Amino acid sequence: MSIPKHIEDAINHYIPHQDGWTTPERCIEMVDRILEIKAQVSVDIGVFAGRSTIAMGFAARELGNAIVYGIDPWHVGIAQESDDNPEGVDWWKDKADLERIHSQAMRDIWAHNLEQWVVIIRSRSEYCDKLFTEIDVLNIDGAHGKVASCRDVMTYLPKVRSGGVLFMDDTAWPSTQEAVKLIEQQCDLVRTMNEPNTESRTYRKR
Ligand SMILES: C[S@@+](CC[C@H](N)C(=O)[O-])C[C@H]1O[C@@H](n2cnc3c(N)ncnc32)[C@H](O)[C@@H]1O
Repeated sequence: MSIPKHIEDAINHYIPHQDGWTTPERCIEMVDRILEIKAQVSVDIGVFAGRSTIAMGFAARELGNAIVYGIDPWHVGIAQESDDNPEGVDWWKDKADLERIHSQAMRDIWAHNLEQWVVIIRSRSEYCDKLFTEIDVLNIDGAHGKVASCRDVMTYLPKVRSGGVLFMDDTAWPSTQEAVKLIEQQCDLVRTMNEPNTESRTYRKR
């Protein structure tokens, strides 16, 4: 895997300081795949503080005429409503100041001068799938409950073109197993990354 050194350095320098979960290694994988298939349209469901979205934005800027759409409502009630895990529900209520996290994401997207390549949609993913006709790269990392994760797969995966790439986060969680099964009906597994406390997978649409 080889991506331009300035992007690798930026990811390793900035991403660990941002709130969120996507690791620098996973960000590098995302950049690599976007550059490999010259993705014109990438969609990131679940922006949080911007780790995955900003990394994808670095790749879009490198391509020049590409764009990343980042979707997130930054709303505690919505995050709680679509989380099946009682600990997760409490975490969103007690620990996640989503107004602050949204401000942080916007500040960092602008600080990296990415506004031409990263468009943020503050909404639930289920309200904006109709905005897209063809998607080259999709990252599903929004609500992790069974219903919400299946809905993201059922509404967005049909829009991913054949040969396009799908990133799915937290593929070992009990709540995402049905979504993983749906993905595997349409995609081939390219890579599994075992990261601290989680597993994520990269697929290619058939
Ligand atoms: C695991 S975090 C995303 C982490 C992020 N990709 C990163 O790189 O750190 C999940 C995000 O999904 C968002 N979310 C919850 N429900 C959603 C929905 N219905 N549509 C889109 N995003 C949603 C939450 O607000 C939260 O910011």
